[in-house]
Amino acid sequence: MVKRITTLLLSAALAAALAGCGSGGATSGGDGTITMGFAQVGAESGWRTANTKSVQESAKAAGVELKFSDAQQKQENQIKAIRSYIQQKVDVIAFSPVVESGWDTVLKEAKDARIPVILTDRAVDSKDTSLYRTFLGSDFIEEGKKAGQWLVDQYKDVKDPVNIVELQGTTGSAPANDRKAGFGQVIAADPKFKIIASQTGDFTRAKGKEVMDAFLKANPKIDVLFAHNDDMGLGAIEAIEGAGKVPGEDIKIITIDAVHDGMQALADGKINYIVECSPLLGPQLMDLSKKVVKGEQVPARVVTEETAFTQEQAKQALPSRKY
Ligand code: AHR
Repeated sequence: MVKRITTLLLSAALAAALAGCGSGGATSGGDGTITMGFAQVGAESGWRTANTKSVQESAKAAGVELKFSDAQQKQENQIKAIRSYIQQKVDVIAFSPVVESGWDTVLKEAKDARIPVILTDRAVDSKDTSLYRTFLGSDFIEEGKKAGQWLVDQYKDVKDPVNIVELQGTTGSAPANDRKAGFGQVIAADPKFKIIASQTGDFTRAKGKEVMDAFLKANPKIDVLFAHNDDMGLGAIEAIEGAGKVPGEDIKIITIDAVHDGMQALADGKINYIVECSPLLGPQLMDLSKKVVKGEQVPARVVTEETAFTQEQAKQALPSRKY
């Protein structure tokens, strides 16, 4: 009899433990506290700094214990960080993939360990979408299209060729691939738009300046710069001024992000148009994390709401800009 009761109690305890595990690891506190492993891309831009701050502050506010790592823009560092989070049995892993491909193996390891993964900011190109629960972030193709549409509208009465140089983001990253594609699709409608040079500036100010210097030396007539983020655009402005030209006038500049320094340059007339990409993903990330850890359904894709700014709109928006 005693043996039967003991067996029943043990079975009940095991069932309760498995139910408690839900979809994730085994570290949830009895008080509902969850542990998140967050593998950040790096600190390459003003956008990234604002994104890191948003994630850290939101975790604190939501009572989520955050384990944070900075991959310094290297995929192998992000993979190492994810493997360490798996070993530590965190409840949920969130990461912003530095590049799109090469994630299947490590994501499969997380799935086998029953730890849910959330993609934040950037996508992966894995065919198996069961490797992650949701993807929270911007529509980068749409951002590229908005940049292209502004250009098409501005130059609608111009007949001459319009020479464009492009500063791409990190090679192989979702925002570089998609912004290029979206921009290209829209300007393809008119053959007068010609991308005469296109190279990566790795989303950094220093690389943006270096590559723009080279573009200016190699190309006597540049009408437009499309930079995939504000930081590269700001570096390029230094190169343009160094070459004795006036940014925003001699060369029209379109960028993406709308971080404070970019918005200031837009208000000052050095940039002509900025498409917004919001880094404030922290609060939504914490909500989604709590839901997936509880085993609740979440949408497969959560798209961030964004706008775009002209020079006049930047002047109005700057005083209340949070980042
Ligand atoms: O993934 C978002 C992009 O990454 C931002 O546009 C850029 O500034 C950042 O480095």
